[in-house]
Amino acid sequence: MNFLFTLLLTRQKAPIEIVEIPSRLDADTLQVSSEKYLGHGLASGERPRGPLAHFHQIPIWYQADPGNSCSTSGCHAPLPHGERIEVRAFLNMHSAFLDCAVCHAADADRATSARWFGLPGRDVQKPPALLRLADLLEQTSDVAAEQAPALNKQLSELLRQALIDSGHNVQLAEWLQRLTTTNTQSKLWQSIVNEMRRGIRMHEHGEYNAKIGLYSNNKIHGRPSDQQKAATTRYLSRKNQLSDDQQQSLLDTIHEGVLPDGALCTPCHSPDPKLIDFKALGYHQSRAESMKGSEIVRQVLNIEKGQPFHLPRILEDLDDR
Ligand code: HEC
Ligand code: HEC
Repeated sequence: MNFLFTLLLTRQKAPIEIVEIPSRLDADTLQVSSEKYLGHGLASGERPRGPLAHFHQIPIWYQADPGNSCSTSGCHAPLPHGERIEVRAFLNMHSAFLDCAVCHAADADRATSARWFGLPGRDVQKPPALLRLADLLEQTSDVAAEQAPALNKQLSELLRQALIDSGHNVQLAEWLQRLTTTNTQSKLWQSIVNEMRRGIRMHEHGEYNAKIGLYSNNKIHGRPSDQQKAATTRYLSRKNQLSDDQQQSLLDTIHEGVLPDGALCTPCHSPDPKLIDFKALGYHQSRAESMKGSEIVRQVLNIEKGQPFHLPRILEDLDDR
């Protein structure tokens, strides 16, 4: 009763998360620190919600890329695709882990190769720790007792790095804690490793703190030249005073080497992808196969032909039960 009176009679402040829901999903929102919301209904490791998404958090898989001049110039949003409803969600999802030029480079050929770069510094790096962890787990099914300590050490090291990259994912933290406090000769240790092998799949979605860029001769595609930078500054500061022709000529310079429409799906998701070598990028065998494999390719081709996208059958099967 006391509780009810207090609740009714005192003026309660609306939660910070409701009154301060961001109205635009711009670069600032994506970079917003979850510290701001700590103690206001958000626990450590949880993410704040996005606009239009009172029930959704901005997932951790979207990590800011301050070296991306297409967005930092203020010209394009970090989730830039809006034109075609059939594909825009997929394309925007991909810009979380692919640099714009991977799809938009006009001069990509067989000599170019896709590699990982770290965020925010954009230095070329090995495949993310999380993918190496998934690969290691896939390769080790039955662990002999004498190999367990060495494997435990490798798993813990990769997990420790993946944990940092993921912005301290709660599940990864729990696995690391259990791995490092369990006797490697016990059944319990085996069961933790098995649980990780089954569960790691849920984390292979951009919790990498890294993105894929396209490189030729160790140079990344899409970095603007001095001339392009100058054209961008001129365009943004003097746009209103320029004639249509002058604007177009600046835009042409800014977008030199950029394909307006980008690569759709098959350059990457097909049996012999031209743009991406999933295995070389560190994706483990079964994931690499599934991304090139028949189901996804079929759905993707349907999208390209403008036919409806059907959810995989597994969901219908669950519904039937
Ligand atoms: C997975 C590949 C891919 C990535 C990554 C990608 N794009 Fe695109 N982009 C496309 C495709 C394909 C189209 C054409 C879409 C269509 O057919 O409607 C496109 C279209 C566009 C358009 C035209 C307008 C629109 O709304 O569709 C803009 C602008 C654009 N991309 C900017 C960017 C920027 C900026 C980035 C990086 C932040 C980026 N793209 C990353 C594939 C990609
Ligand atoms: C430039 C290469 C590229 C293009 C073009 C591309 N993708 Fe992808 N796609 C990837 C990569 C790399 C991943 C893995 C992402 C990760 O690690 O989270 C992926 C993941 C996916 C996944 C998740 C699959 C899984 O097993 O987790 C789906 C679904 C998907 N892409 C569909 C599409 C569709 C539909 C299009 C076209 C609209 C498309 N992709 C275009 C490279 C590409």
